[in-house]
Amino acid sequence: MKKKILGITMALVLGLSLAACGSKDGGSSDGGSSKKSEDGGSSNVANKDKPLVWFNRQPSNSSTGELDKAALSYNKDTYYVGFDANQGADLQGTMIKEYIEKNIDKIDRDGDGVIGYVLAIGDIGHNDSIARTRGVRKAMGTGVEKDGEINSEPVGTNVDGKATAVKDGTLEIGGKKYTVRELASQEMKNSAGATWDAATAGNAIGTWSSSFGKKIDIVASNNDGLGMSMFNAWSKDNKVPTFGYDANSDAVAAIAEGYGGTISQHADVQAYLTLRVLRNALDGVDIDTGIGTADDAGNVLTDDVYTYNEEERSYYALNVAVTAENYQDFTDSTKIYEPVSKQLDESKSAKKKVWLNIYNASDNFLSSTYQPLLKNYDDLLNLEVDYIGGDGQTESNITNRLGNPSQYDAFAINMVKTDNAASYTALLNK
Ligand code: BGC
Repeated sequence: MKKKILGITMALVLGLSLAACGSKDGGSSDGGSSKKSEDGGSSNVANKDKPLVWFNRQPSNSSTGELDKAALSYNKDTYYVGFDANQGADLQGTMIKEYIEKNIDKIDRDGDGVIGYVLAIGDIGHNDSIARTRGVRKAMGTGVEKDGEINSEPVGTNVDGKATAVKDGTLEIGGKKYTVRELASQEMKNSAGATWDAATAGNAIGTWSSSFGKKIDIVASNNDGLGMSMFNAWSKDNKVPTFGYDANSDAVAAIAEGYGGTISQHADVQAYLTLRVLRNALDGVDIDTGIGTADDAGNVLTDDVYTYNEEERSYYALNVAVTAENYQDFTDSTKIYEPVSKQLDESKSAKKKVWLNIYNASDNFLSSTYQPLLKNYDDLLNLEVDYIGGDGQTESNITNRLGNPSQYDAFAINMVKTDNAASYTALLNK
């Protein structure tokens, strides 16, 4: 009898101490969570071993495009989340080409047999931007090869068709041959150095339209921020189809008013993946949980919306063209993706603290689509996220705000310059 009581007491003591242990690791008991909020993140994991996700701007060499493998495999819980840039770029090019084919009777505004387009480039050192420039040139037949790939440099102006970074293309539509010319292209960077700058694009279309007038038949751009700025400044009134990328809500709505189309990069899937890979690493579960394999709540993605490249440690969402035919399905770009919209159980996925930065707080896509989506997912995944907004041009402005990484359990990083991964990891190595 005595022995039995002792046994029970032992079991109780053991049980209690196990529970205490669990809560220290971020378990569910009250004692644990109040302790955790005092000292912030999990104090017993070294910063260099905490889960890290790069997103939206893939660590890479901004001149050669080569991936920064050291950054992408910084520790065993490091990933990148973005989208399939080449698939999206091809879609964008094809969308524009199909638009031209379908509307050929009204495209050539001055009737000279030359279909002229202008192109707003986001960031010449950003792989996604480069891919989109190439995608448009490929579909228009205006690309010129350089080192085995289509040259993605801006041409400045090319009204005479003599630029060397592009050539005149030919499109045969309804038995008739049309010349296609890139009349002008420019990186939309403001004087302070911020790229993808919508205001710069609004000014550029002013200059271009006053020099080329009715020669401009199509306006193409690397994103909707630039596209909408040009649409509002000029193309809407002049009924010139304008194309962007991102499927921000304002751009989708503008399709009803003549905006030519855009591409959804499935930001709803990317924002989920960005936080989900951190969640899985924090829970110590298989990285595929709630991604390719359903989690306990039933969240799961199908392979028509993303791919995973193990060697690049990168998740890439797939893109979808958004045009007059289907835009009604895309009117709210901040709506979470239904198949991954279920709340996680806090007893299995305890509250954790995440440091996350948006490299440019005024970037159209990031501020109007991506960040609202992240905010919609963070609660569902039981993550308490501190959102840090940068100015789009100064890396130190952001790294300075990663002064105390020990307060966080995990990190989500959106760099200003894709070459700069080491300025973040150096802070985690300390
Ligand atoms: C988006 C752009 C955005 C950029 C920021 C791209 O994926 O399409 O709109 O400006 O990310 O890095």
